[in-house]
Amino acid sequence: MSKPVDRRDFLRTTTIAAATAGLASLRSESQSPNAQATAATPLPTRELGKTGQRVSILGLGGEHTLSKEGTDAEAEAIIARALELGVTYFDTAQLYYPSEKYLGQGLKGRRDTVFLSTKIDPRDPEEAKPLIERSLTLLGTAQVDNLNIHRVRNLEDVDRITKKGGLLDLVHKMKDEGVCRHIGISGHYTAEALIALMRRGDFTFVLLPVNPTDTHMSPFESARREARSRGMGVIAMKVAARGRFFKECGVARMDGLLTYALSQDVDVAIVGAETVAHVEDNVRIAKSFQPMSTEAQHKLEEEMKPHTSIGNFYKPGGAGWLD
Ligand SMILES: NC(=O)c1ccc[n+]([C@@H]2O[C@H](COP(=O)([O-])OP(=O)(O)OC[C@H]3O[C@@H](n4cnc5c(N)ncnc54)[C@H](OP(=O)(O)O)[C@@H]3O)[C@@H](O)[C@H]2O)c1
Repeated sequence: MSKPVDRRDFLRTTTIAAATAGLASLRSESQSPNAQATAATPLPTRELGKTGQRVSILGLGGEHTLSKEGTDAEAEAIIARALELGVTYFDTAQLYYPSEKYLGQGLKGRRDTVFLSTKIDPRDPEEAKPLIERSLTLLGTAQVDNLNIHRVRNLEDVDRITKKGGLLDLVHKMKDEGVCRHIGISGHYTAEALIALMRRGDFTFVLLPVNPTDTHMSPFESARREARSRGMGVIAMKVAARGRFFKECGVARMDGLLTYALSQDVDVAIVGAETVAHVEDNVRIAKSFQPMSTEAQHKLEEEMKPHTSIGNFYKPGGAGWLD
């Protein structure tokens, strides 16, 4: 594996690092050549929370092409290419069907070499239990590395999740039975809900939004800090606002967005892919990752400010609610 990027090290160097992937990389009109993704340079890794395990700083998201029916060949190619290029963190969910099925097929024979995280959505334990068992079947594994409680929305939701005999009790019981190694939480609606749930349970990971517009609207930074104060691993998503920065905001390239996300205090950034070329491009960026300077981060946040509503589309008041 490559020279590891240690979280403490890169945060220490953030203020002095060159702003190599700032605004210019967002403005560029042309897609960078993907050839570098095939080079022998390994993907950098970081320690995943306090698990003692290292994973690639870039993870593959289980939505987009992987969550569409009838995209078997494309999904297979995306997963195979990600594995080939050294991606070792894979995120999926019961709700993203057929993503778990594609990953089960694509990770065959490689299960032990990757960190596999899935999610459970229903709050009713009777409904959730068979769906968790189905996830294992589809994924072709007896145990996932992490099981996230999916889409934590608000304080009422936290009450539902944590009530006696509720979903949280079920996932702990299933963890004791060996169904998962860790329990995590994910959400993109409000930081307050994630923080409230962290304070009521014992979780290893949180998956939350990280992009340069987050700071302008109900930021999730407080949830990141709360997670770190509890020794939890932090996984970034919404790096490209589900691709909306490209389609609706005129952002031309992923470089600045992914480098920005990886320059925050996160262990992994998971990015969804429509094509193999997306995987290759994201691997290229992750391989050449250098922390963005604080100054360049602030400049990027200001430049992206007009896109705050789209970049936070999943929050109350954002441009389109993704439930
Ligand atoms: N827990 C939750 O609540 C939750 C919710 C949503 C997602 N997720 C997870 O997070 C993952 C990421 O989803 P996200 O919503 O955060 O999306 P994202 O990663 O911000 O955006 C992914 C989209 O960006 C575009 N893209 C990716 N790489 C690119 C590149 N190098 N150049 C140009 N375009 C590129 C593609 O879309 P286009 O080609 O369409 O532009 C791709 O589908 C999902 O796959 C899923 O695993 C979790």
